[in-house]
Amino acid sequence: MKKISVLLFTSLLLIQCKTTTKPTPDIGLIADKAIVVSARVEASKIGIEILKKGGNAFDAMAATQLALAVAYPFAGNLGGGGFMVYRKNNGEIGALDFREKAPIAASRDMYLDESGNVIEGKSTLGIMAVGVPGSVAGVFETHKKFGSLPIEDIIKPVIELAKKGVQVTKKQARTIKKYQPLFLEANKDSILFSKQWQENDSIKYPALAQTLERILKNGYDEFYKGETAKRLVNFIQDNGGIITMEDLAKYEAKWRKPITFNYDDLKIISMSPPSSGGICLAQILNGIEPYDLKKFGHNQTKYIQVITEAERRAYADRSHFLGDADFVHVPTDSLISKAYTKHRMDNFSFSKPTKSSELTHGNIELIESDETTHYSIVDAFGNAVSVTTTLNGAFGSKVYCEDLGFFLNNEMDDFSSKPGTPNMFGLIGAKANEIVPQKRMLSSMTPTIVEKNGNLWMVVGTPGGSTIITSVLQTILNVHEFDFGMQDAINQSRFHHQWLPDDIKMEPNGFDEKVKKELKDIGYILDETNSPVIGKVEGILVLPNKKLEGGADHRGDDTAVGY
Ligand code: DON
Repeated sequence: MKKISVLLFTSLLLIQCKTTTKPTPDIGLIADKAIVVSARVEASKIGIEILKKGGNAFDAMAATQLALAVAYPFAGNLGGGGFMVYRKNNGEIGALDFREKAPIAASRDMYLDESGNVIEGKSTLGIMAVGVPGSVAGVFETHKKFGSLPIEDIIKPVIELAKKGVQVTKKQARTIKKYQPLFLEANKDSILFSKQWQENDSIKYPALAQTLERILKNGYDEFYKGETAKRLVNFIQDNGGIITMEDLAKYEAKWRKPITFNYDDLKIISMSPPSSGGICLAQILNGIEPYDLKKFGHNQTKYIQVITEAERRAYADRSHFLGDADFVHVPTDSLISKAYTKHRMDNFSFSKPTKSSELTHGNIELIESDETTHYSIVDAFGNAVSVTTTLNGAFGSKVYCEDLGFFLNNEMDDFSSKPGTPNMFGLIGAKANEIVPQKRMLSSMTPTIVEKNGNLWMVVGTPGGSTIITSVLQTILNVHEFDFGMQDAINQSRFHHQWLPDDIKMEPNGFDEKVKKELKDIGYILDETNSPVIGKVEGILVLPNKKLEGGADHRGDDTAVGY
């Protein structure tokens, strides 16, 4: 009883303090040399151990990617894909695309019924939702080009983790329970996650450990041509899927030129197509650059307005112009030019919202020469990698291959199944993102690295579907414009607009009542329901004293580890 009243008193005191004094900053992990920040402490630790052994950020990328497949099956994966943006300590930058691809047997209308309507759930739940996975190719390609440690050193700790097991967190127990009815629907039999897992239980992954052991022994080909490939294709086809051995054999991760642009004194390096992340981020930042955001104030009415209007225009363009640049022409240079964005913002006014129904994509002359998780790594040599990887929805298609020990993605839903019909993130697409065999589906993933005065300054990214781009945007602005530290920048409430639906999504209870009233009075529609989650950001900031601050999003179990 006494304990309870002390607690009550302390809480009241805290509430009191919160309303009367400026909150003390929430400082993230400070480290002298290196940080790995990811969705699970087990994965961050494996990454950092690789760095302590003398490995570089690319070795740590390979290890963290694989470790997340074990420790965070919600989104970490072997059965999905992703993107990496990197900056080496000599300033060299680049990007790797290990996005999933449409199977050879895929077709434009594969998710439509005879009347041409989208068949609900076909692109999101079950085997038909699966794209050809790219993550293992991503790991091997990264290691081949930039790795410094032998691959055994990287894969062995992950195998040990899979054998030893991973403790279930409170949030994870809740998520597994939530998705169990869908596991039942998507799989013929019960799966590892059908059990009533409780907080603090330990889940062991023997099948995944064996898959990783075979990959360690036989290398890249094991997953794309060998025993694992055969077992995977048999499993998929037994379940009525269309992925073949040829699909796997033909898969390749591709090195891409990242999108780069300046905002004030920052140089931003982010992901190029088939992700929309870098282009949209550039368009939004170009759109807001002329305004004095500091003067508007953090998360105040005019600040939210100008960002919303720039987002609206960028997402309208995204839905029309963006797709896999290997298949369609993406007018990148025009879209990210300052002149074009300025022209797009010409009809914006503070007195009333632009209606999305009255706004379409911009005019560009087409003659110009087209459930996710993020981890950020900085190593002791000053190399940085920013990786976002995904199965798309939580546990992807919910199809779990018991034999191999991993979930398969439902990335096919990121294509536009039918022009004008929204996907699971409410995003609308057009011809540029229609399904074509072997094409990569458009993404919003925005792994990003920011330079200031030519030096590494921030490594940042997040999951969150369509909200990824706007969460990365706000995190950068929180630090650059409002001087928040890395952790505090991540903690701040976020909002999001994506052209359609025409509303501003806001994290519940995160914004001033006065601001919300003002926005409503001007004519904005606010959506404060808690779905979708507006990001789980992982960031690393290089501080003026050259130390690093790792920020891990408290919205999840995310953790920074460093030394
Ligand atoms: O590539 C994309 O944009 C989506 N597949 C990302 C999915 C995602 O972030 C889910 N996490 N909340």
